[in-house]
Amino acid sequence: MKFFDLYKDLEIAHQKSLIVALSHFRHVSYSKLRLQNDIFLTLEEQHFLSHTLTRLKQKEPLTKILGCTEFYGFNFAVTTDVLDPRQDSEMLIDAVRTDYCDNHANLSFLDLGTGSGSLIITLLLLYPNAQGIALDFSEKALKVAEQNANFHKISNRITFYQGSWFDALPVAKQVAKFDCIITNPPYIKSDYPLDDSVKNYDPHEALYAGTDGLDDYIKIMPKVSEHLNNKGRFYCEIGFDQSIAVQDIIYRQKHLKFLQCIKDYSENDRVIVAEHC
Ligand SMILES: C[S@@+](CC[C@H](N)C(=O)[O-])C[C@H]1O[C@@H](n2cnc3c(N)ncnc32)[C@H](O)[C@@H]1O
Repeated sequence: MKFFDLYKDLEIAHQKSLIVALSHFRHVSYSKLRLQNDIFLTLEEQHFLSHTLTRLKQKEPLTKILGCTEFYGFNFAVTTDVLDPRQDSEMLIDAVRTDYCDNHANLSFLDLGTGSGSLIITLLLLYPNAQGIALDFSEKALKVAEQNANFHKISNRITFYQGSWFDALPVAKQVAKFDCIITNPPYIKSDYPLDDSVKNYDPHEALYAGTDGLDDYIKIMPKVSEHLNNKGRFYCEIGFDQSIAVQDIIYRQKHLKFLQCIKDYSENDRVIVAEHC
C-alpha cells in the first residue's frame, strides 16, 4: 500500500505527523521521506501508522506517542510523567549563552523543577566543563531526566535530588552556591482553559500554580539569592502576562536585582533574568 493512497484526504498536520512517525519507525530523516513522490508501506508500517493516527485524533501529542522529542537540537525521552519541553523555553538557553559566551567556563547550574531534564542537560552539553544539580518533586520525572542524562553521557556532571524546591537539597548542599539558577516552574492559572493535548498528557503538577499562576515563584524567590554566587544569575521562565508580577516578587527580595525580560518567538514576555547583588 502507498502512503498517499491511504492518507491523501487526511488534514495536512496529521499527514505531516504520520511522516514524522514513519521516519522515526524507519530510522531515516523526515526530509528524506518527505521528498519521495510516494512511500510504499509494509503491513507492519500500516498497522503502526493506523494506531498512531487513532492516538493523534484523540489529541495525544506525537512526542508522547513516539516517546521522544527534540529540544535545542538535542533528543530527549518524554513520557506522560514529564512536561514536553517547549520551543519557547529555548529562550532561556539563549539567555544563558548570551551572558556566558565562554563555552569552556566552569559554570555551576541548579535547575529547579527539571522535568525531562531538557534545560540543564542542554546547558551541560553546551558547556562541557560545567556541573549541575537538578531537582524535582516528581520521582517519576526524575527517572526520565536520569535516563536523558545517561543517553547524553553527562551523568558524571549532574546530580538529581527529589523534593520541594530548595528543600530537596540534602543537608550538605543547603548552603551550596551556584553561578546560574534556572527554572521553568508551573505557572498556569488554575482556571485557565488548556487544550486537551496538554491537559490530558502533561502532568498537572508541572502546569498549575494557583489562581494567579504565581504560587511557585513566591515559594522559590526568597531563597534564590542565598544560593547564588556573587553576580550569579537567575533565569526564570514566565507566562506571557506575568512579567510585571514576577518582577514585583523579585523587587521584594534582598540581594536580587532584576536585569531584563526576554521575549519568545511569538514576541511574548517569556524569560526573566535577575542577578545576585
Ligand atoms: C513546567 S515543568 C518544567 C519542566 C522542565 N524544566 C522543562 O522546562 O521542560 C515544572 C516542573 O516542576 C516540577 N515541580 C512542581 N512543583 C514542584 C516543587 N514543589 N518542587 C520541585 N519541583 C516541582 C514539576 O514536577 C515539573 O517537572
